[in-house]
Amino acid sequence: MVRFSVLFAALATLASRVVVATPIAERQTGCTLTWNGSTITGYADGSEGVCRYTVRYGTANRWTDSVATTSLGTTNALPPSCPQISASAGNPLSAATQSEDCLYITLYVPADATATSHQPVLAWLHGGAYTFGSDSAAGFDGAGLAANGGIIVAAIQYRLGVLGNIPPTVAPSGTDPNFALRDVLLAINTLRARHNDFYGDNSLITLGGQDSGASIIRALWGVSGAVGKFSSMILQSDPLSYGFASTATTNSLATLLASQPALSGSTLTTFANWQALPVSTLIAAQNTLVNTASATIAGLPITGAIRPTWGGTTLPQDPTRLLISNPSSLAISPASVPLLITNTKNEAGSAIQYLWSTPITLNATRYSNVLGALLGSTRATTLLASGSPYALPTTDSTGDIMRQTLERTIADGAWRCPARTLANAYAAAGGTVYVGEWTKGVTYPTNAVGSGAYCTGGAVCHSDDIYPLFQSAPSPSGTTLLLEEEVSNVWTNFVNVLPVGSWSTFTGTTGVTGTNVHAIGNGTIGACPSSYWGSTVQWDWQIYTS
Ligand SMILES: *[C@@H]1O[C@H](CO)[C@@H](O)[C@H](O)[C@H]1NC(C)=O
Ligand SMILES: *[C@@H]1O[C@H](CO)[C@@H](O)[C@H](O)[C@H]1NC(C)=O
Ligand SMILES: *[C@@H]1O[C@H](CO)[C@@H](O)[C@H](O)[C@H]1NC(C)=O
Repeated sequence: MVRFSVLFAALATLASRVVVATPIAERQTGCTLTWNGSTITGYADGSEGVCRYTVRYGTANRWTDSVATTSLGTTNALPPSCPQISASAGNPLSAATQSEDCLYITLYVPADATATSHQPVLAWLHGGAYTFGSDSAAGFDGAGLAANGGIIVAAIQYRLGVLGNIPPTVAPSGTDPNFALRDVLLAINTLRARHNDFYGDNSLITLGGQDSGASIIRALWGVSGAVGKFSSMILQSDPLSYGFASTATTNSLATLLASQPALSGSTLTTFANWQALPVSTLIAAQNTLVNTASATIAGLPITGAIRPTWGGTTLPQDPTRLLISNPSSLAISPASVPLLITNTKNEAGSAIQYLWSTPITLNATRYSNVLGALLGSTRATTLLASGSPYALPTTDSTGDIMRQTLERTIADGAWRCPARTLANAYAAAGGTVYVGEWTKGVTYPTNAVGSGAYCTGGAVCHSDDIYPLFQSAPSPSGTTLLLEEEVSNVWTNFVNVLPVGSWSTFTGTTGVTGTNVHAIGNGTIGACPSSYWGSTVQWDWQIYTS
């Protein structure tokens, strides 16, 4: 926080409730809180002037609802991650330790916060396609943002993969499999109940997330239990063309799960059999499931087979579709919760990075095969037959123009253009909405692959917003420092429900081509052709409605 004296001066003039960090010497020396009557000790991040506390918010038997707990676990270390591919197998989004006992919140509290200071709270949901990620993922250290913004960052873990979303067909959960969604609700309710204990302001809780973490927040638009629980929302890089799974789709996935090779030697007649399976066996089955399911089940996003399910009690209808067709029937009224929605400039670079990292020369056949795998043959055919900017380049000896066209096509179709359409709908329904596009970023470890790769060569790929958001880039300087400063300013103001600097709110259809979309990091932002996405080429949630 000592990095941004100019920023602090600017923030201090904005509102008295923005608490300016004091020099470290004046801060409390220890990191202790009284949590529901018990004294807990956290980890003192002296360099940032922040106390980090980890608290267990719930416990759950496998494929049953989580319940609140008074047993908080170890509070001065990061929690075990929920089961997923292991860190030792090359997954940078997991802690070294994993456990099904993973329902924790990691709190980053400015050390000068007190019982009377009531800091605003950014409750954060990590991404990872619903199957990866944790509070220990690279860059997810909330200390820098907490210190620079004078806010509390509360990172929430929730169950992942089949354990959080796809119970076996014999499970008693029936048509309402959304354990992960209900974990998040329990975590939010815990933050609300205990806000005085960690010096948080109950009336200023922003729920933010990236990737599938943002998608979970979008799902909460349709969840009645989420109403009135938070004051604003931040969706970063939500793949907004994807809807949620119908009950029929989730049932098909549950059936397909049972037929995975990893489970072939197991007796799985009863729910108790499934609950007793070694978790490593389940994760092995999940890995083949997510890689193969889209070949046999229609409408699964190739990068996110496992998702929340609509059609049951928790999430009766797909809220994405409701926002467009019948916004007044959403559980959360857009008029009541401001929304900040961002995409990175080159979202799709991460997904198709392999086309750069190995010297594959694209040709027309391979191009249409990749496009068909990503979007299905109907949409691929329409896109290939369309004019600029998605037409297949005719002369391209190195494949560079083809790669860039492919990246633009997927970035527009899955992220940029639905973000602007949904922002329009949110504004039309009375909501305050800000839209940003990251034109600069810091390469995330999952994007730093191969030689001569696209994302390390200046593109701003999916997840390249994580380090600047959390102010966690190693040794920031120059552009990175300016970017962190801009982000800290805008995000902190938004969490405080203050005007967001020079940003204008997003209104009207002109926004589709770029007006009122703010470039985070300056430079030019991408435009969406008008009346193309959502009509000539439809989004998943328009096509897969049952
Ligand atoms: C607080 O602790 C008491 C027992 O000491 C427990 O009954 C209660 O459920 C706890 N409340 C929360 C919100 O954890
Ligand atoms: C196109 O690329 C594919 C895959 O790299 C290759 O098998 C095929 O021979 C190529 N076709 C032409 C006409 O070069
Ligand atoms: C963007 O431009 C503004 C105005 O010139 C400047 O203050 C800011 O630092 C720039 N941001 C970045 C990331 O370069």
